[in-house]
Amino acid sequence: MTVLEVIQRSAEFLTKKGVESPRLQVELLLAHVLHLPRMGLYLNFDRALTPKELDDLRELVRRRGQREPLQLITGSTSFCGLELMVNNHVLVPRPETELLAELGWQFLNSNSPTPPSALDFGTGSGCLAIASAVKSPAAQVSAVDISPDALAVARQNAARHQVESRIQFFAGDGFAALPSGAQFDLIVANPPYIPSQEIGTLEPEVRDHDPRLALDGGADGLEFYRRLAGEAGAFLKPGGRIMLEFGDGQEGAIQNLFGQQKWIVEAVKTDYSGRPRILIAHRAGQ
Ligand SMILES: C[S@@+](CC[C@H](N)C(=O)[O-])C[C@H]1O[C@@H](n2cnc3c(N)ncnc32)[C@H](O)[C@@H]1O
Repeated sequence: MTVLEVIQRSAEFLTKKGVESPRLQVELLLAHVLHLPRMGLYLNFDRALTPKELDDLRELVRRRGQREPLQLITGSTSFCGLELMVNNHVLVPRPETELLAELGWQFLNSNSPTPPSALDFGTGSGCLAIASAVKSPAAQVSAVDISPDALAVARQNAARHQVESRIQFFAGDGFAALPSGAQFDLIVANPPYIPSQEIGTLEPEVRDHDPRLALDGGADGLEFYRRLAGEAGAFLKPGGRIMLEFGDGQEGAIQNLFGQQKWIVEAVKTDYSGRPRILIAHRAGQ
């Protein structure tokens, strides 16, 4: 079977399985099997696949048909232009979160006369911590996660991008895992924000493959924002900022929570599809 034939047949199969953008998905899987950039497939449409290549692709397409995310099948994803390893212990970083990363490193780079410091609360794959360290080369970064398995992935990703000496990883429950007295110029977080009852209604790629710990934001999805609004102030240096990603429709409730805890909400930024997505705040009086 040729490259073009296999793309067409596999795309039909994925369409039947309800997978979005089936042709793109097959092309990415085939490019992975053939160790080619995706565009390289277009120059090789008439090339016949070897039996081994065909077997390998069939297995990957079968997994994608069972709604396993592409990134978990290939074991990697791209975040802010950085290739990151992912597995089923971490949330697959989302494109919206790149915006949070960018706002974070712009703040780190614009502000401090001394090397700036940042905390990534709930680091998962390490995407925010690593992007901060790479794009803000003087920054000292701390990253906390309750999942030791996620931290193992984050550490590998930090080493891959040669920033492990500037990122300290802490395992444990939020701020309680940090050394006492720790303070940062910037706290970034993309906390779990799905209301517990809604997790079962999500697409299978998310519901069955992202770790529950990365999704579950408690009964109303706001549990982590309550904690952050109440606890983060003590961990922020004077003049520091908190930048948080949140889910659809949570903007008003989160602004209220932060307002009640003496934060000044400076901005709410929209994502690439125009939805409010990121809250930026500082402590009142600073
Ligand atoms: C939505 S994921 C975000 C991961 C990554 N920062 C990203 O943006 O792709 C939330 C992360 O918070 C972690 N987490 C959940 N509860 C936590 C807690 N109590 N303390 C620290 N981290 C926690 C999860 O393990 C998960 O890695």
